[in-house]
Amino acid sequence: MKIAILSNGPGNYSTKRLVEEAEKRGHEVRVIKYKNCYLALDDKHPDVLYEGEKLKNFDAILPRISNNMTRYGCAVVRQFEMQGVWTSAASVAITRARDKLRAAQILAKYDVDTPKTLVSRNTSDIDDLLGQIGLPVIIKLATGTHGNGVILADTRKAAKSALQAFYLYNEDGTNILLQEFIKESAGTDIRAFVVGNKVVAAMQRASLDDDFRSNLHQGGQGTLVKLTAEEKRTALKAARAMGLHVCGVDLMRSARGPLVLEVNASPGFGIEKVTGIDVASKIIEYIELNAPRHNGKDRVGA
Ligand SMILES: Nc1ncnc2c1ncn2[C@@H]1O[C@H](COP(=O)(O)OP(=O)(O)O)[C@@H](O)[C@H]1O
Ligand SMILES: [Mg+2]
Repeated sequence: MKIAILSNGPGNYSTKRLVEEAEKRGHEVRVIKYKNCYLALDDKHPDVLYEGEKLKNFDAILPRISNNMTRYGCAVVRQFEMQGVWTSAASVAITRARDKLRAAQILAKYDVDTPKTLVSRNTSDIDDLLGQIGLPVIIKLATGTHGNGVILADTRKAAKSALQAFYLYNEDGTNILLQEFIKESAGTDIRAFVVGNKVVAAMQRASLDDDFRSNLHQGGQGTLVKLTAEEKRTALKAARAMGLHVCGVDLMRSARGPLVLEVNASPGFGIEKVTGIDVASKIIEYIELNAPRHNGKDRVGA
C-alpha cells in the first residue's frame, strides 16, 4: 500500500517507528510535513501540494498532528478526506479531541464516565460551582496539553483568583473548565492505547514527586499495568464516542470506577518502551485491514 504519514517531525520516535514497521510489512511509505503542504481549492480537485509536487494515489494517510498546529494539520487531513483517501483519524475527530470542553460534551453524550466537570464564564458563579464540585478543585484550560494548563486550587480564594486571571484572556469563556479533583489516584493515571476495537497496550503513569500531574512531560514515569475488563470497556467506549480508531485514552482509577480524563488523537509511542509492545505494527496492520486499496483513479467526493 501507499501510505502517507503526516508528521512535522520525521525524526520523532513515533514517526520513525511507523515508517520502520510499514516498510517491514512491504508498504511504500512517505513522511509528509503537513506544515509545508499547501492546499488548492477549486471545483474539480481538492489538491494537496508539497514541495511543488501534487500528492496523489495514497491508499491511506496516518495523521500525527501536533497540538500546536491542529487547525492547519486538520485542514490538510480534510483535503485528503475530500479526495476520498482513507485516514486513520478523521479531521473532525482530531478537532473534537483537542478541545477539552467539546470532548467532555461528547463523552457525556455517549455516557462515558468522567470527573464531574463544570464550565462558566463568571467568577460570580464560583461559590455555586465549588458547592457542586468541592475543594480542592482542578482548573483546566480547554486546549492545554502535556500537563501545562492544569491547575490544582486548594482553597476558594485560590480558585477564584486563578479563574479571574484566566478570564482576563478569555472573553468568550469557553476555554476554562472546573473539574472534580480525583484524590484517590492523584499523581497517577492510566494510558490505554487503542487500535480499532482493542486496547493494545496500557501503562500506568505516576509522578515521581508531589506533583498531582502524571504526564511524562512533567517528569512522570510509566510502568506496565494490567487493565480490568471494566477499564478496557471504558477506554473503548471513549474511543468510539470520539470517533478515533487509533488513540490514547487517559483514565483515572477512582473510588467509583474508571473515569476518562481525555482521548489523545496522536498518542506518543513511549508506551512501546514501557510495555515492550509493538504498537506501530498494530497500527499498520489496522490500516491494511481497513483502508481500501486505491484503484489508480482520482477519488473526488465526500
Ligand atoms: N480531575 C482530576 N483529578 C486529579 N488529577 C487530574 C485531574 N485532571 C487531570 N489530572 C492530572 O493532570 C494530568 C494532566 O491532565 P489532562 O486533563 O490529561 O491534561 P493534558 O492534556 O495537559 O495532559 C493528568 O494526567 C492527571 O495526572
Ligand atoms: Mg493528558
